[in-house]
This record gives sequence, C-alpha cells and structure tokens, in this order.
Amino acid sequence: MKNKWLFYALLLIVTYNCNSSKTKKLTIGLAMDTYTEERWKKDGQFFEERAAQLGATVIRQVCNGNEQLQNEQVENLITQGVDVLVIVPHNSKTAAKAVNSAKEAGIKVIAYDRMIKDCDLDLYVSFDNEQVGVLQAQTLVGLAPKGNYMLVEGSATDENAFLYNKGHMQILKPLIDSGHITIVMEQYCKDWLPIEAYKQTQNALTKNNNNIAAILVANDGLAGGCIQALTEQQLAGKIPVSGQDAELAAVQRVIDGVQSMTVYKPIKQLAYAGAEAAIALAENKPTAATTRTINNGKKEVSALLLAPVAVDKNNVKQTVIADGYIKATELKMQ
Ligand code: BGC
Repeated sequence: MKNKWLFYALLLIVTYNCNSSKTKKLTIGLAMDTYTEERWKKDGQFFEERAAQLGATVIRQVCNGNEQLQNEQVENLITQGVDVLVIVPHNSKTAAKAVNSAKEAGIKVIAYDRMIKDCDLDLYVSFDNEQVGVLQAQTLVGLAPKGNYMLVEGSATDENAFLYNKGHMQILKPLIDSGHITIVMEQYCKDWLPIEAYKQTQNALTKNNNNIAAILVANDGLAGGCIQALTEQQLAGKIPVSGQDAELAAVQRVIDGVQSMTVYKPIKQLAYAGAEAAIALAENKPTAATTRTINNGKKEVSALLLAPVAVDKNNVKQTVIADGYIKATELKMQ
C-alpha cells in the first residue's frame, strides 16, 4: 500500500517536471542602440507585444549610442541565459564581437534593422534599405532635375547609411555623368545627430552662395537640422529636402511644404516579424520565408526585407494614417 502511494507520488513529480520543461517560457534578449529617433520605442513596444502574444518574455537593453556598453549588455544577456538574441547594432562592425560570444554560448542571433558585419549571423530582418535611398533620390530628382546637390548621409558606423547612399547614387549617377547634377557636399553625420546636418547645411549654403538645388537627407531627424538652417536663410520650402521614418514632426513638415517627402517603414510589421523569427530560431523551427541573402563579409545571411513606402503631401492619408502609424488628429492638415 505504502509503495503504491510512493509510486504515484513519483509519477506526479516526473510528469510535472516533463511538462514544466516543455512549457518553460522562452526569453529573448533584445539589445537596442537608442531611443533618440521616434521609431525605436515603437520597435521595442511592438516587439514585446508580439513576443508576449506568443508566450515569450523579452529582456530589453538600450546602450544609448555606446558600442562598448552594447557589447557588455549582450554579454550580460548571455549570462542571464536568454534563449535567443536580437541586436540593433550601434556599430555594424564592432557588434560582431557580441555575436561571436553569443554563438560560442550556442545562442542564435538576429540582426534587426541594421546589418552586423563579419560574423556568423543567423538572420537579418530589415527593410530594403537601398530602396529607401532610391525613393528619396527619385522624389528629389523629380522636383530638382539639375543643379547643385547636397548629400547629408547617416552615421558611418551604421551599415544602413551606406545602403541609403548606394540608393542615392543609383539615381544620381547618370545625372552626374550627363552634367545635370553636381554634388557640392557629401557627408556622413556622426551618430545621426541633427546638429551635424544643421552645420553642414549652413556651410554648404555659405560656400555656394545659397545656390543649392536639393538636399538629399537620409532621415527625418537630420532633415530637421537641414530645414532649421534653411529657415534661417528664408529658404525653407524653396529647396527640396528628403527624409525617412515618417516621424510626426516630419510628416507635419511634409504637409506644411517645408520637407518634400519622408519614407514610411511599417515598424509594426518589422517588429512582429523579428519577434516571430526569434521564437522560431530559439525553438529550432524554420523562420518565415526569407526574401534573399545578403553577404555580411563572412557569410550569405538569410534576409527578410520589407518594402519601404515614399510619402509626400498627396499620400499621407493613404499611407501613415491609413496604417494607424500616426493619427489624423495629431496632424494639422492644410
Ligand atoms: C534606421 C533609420 C533611423 C536611423 C537613425 C537607421 O539604421 O534604419 O530608420 O532613422 O538608423 O536611428
């Protein structure tokens, strides 16, 4: 009789342990660079929302633009025993060290939005960044088919900045070759700082006696800096300026006619795809179909690239508002 109870008790313990290990919550380490640009908080929130829906926990870290701190944060996430890592690198090169540590610990890694170079990445989820640059340049060339162009590019530590530039040059090259367009200034802005863009615009205006046909700008934050310099010369709205991210202030500037366009990237889609892929990788299941592979210097990395959308005065309602990214009530329509 006693033995029988002992047997049932043991059975109960064994069953409980088996089940609890099966239902153990997955933990995703999410290492972010910054919250400076409006989008990044949305990335984090949507990512956590989707992970929670799928029963996973997220430990989120942000390094505020400090690449060394970011690597330390990743080491810490590895020590905490996360099941998978998702990294938005501050520096697309130095973050490889963090990826190497994760891989040594048997943890899979996704590069989110920005590529991580020269390492054994498992997946890259982002937008078609070269296409972002193409959309920006196409709009400006349509508005200013000839003259002096300024190129205000992103941070040189961010691989995306080079992809945007590649897209810009794809459109500009034939016009430069034919002599229609001259690039009078091309500069990368440290840490994507708007103040850098402001100073560069001031310099270029002075050097060229305000004779600038268009300013090709990589994102909305930088566009804000450029437009401030233009405003000081009463040139805002007279010189086409591009942007990216569909930030609230930028969409308002587009409506007001001082910024020609922005690029809307559906962040919810990206964050959801990132969370879903992280969980699939942690469970050794196949991820959603990737669109292509991209060489990161070490290997052909499977890449899931979503499509960016050009936004100008005419399609604000059909794009960012229709998608719920910005509420109509947040904007002053003209
Ligand atoms: C992102 C942009 C963002 C920029 C600055 C880029 O890597 O793709 O959306 O504006 O970083 O944070």
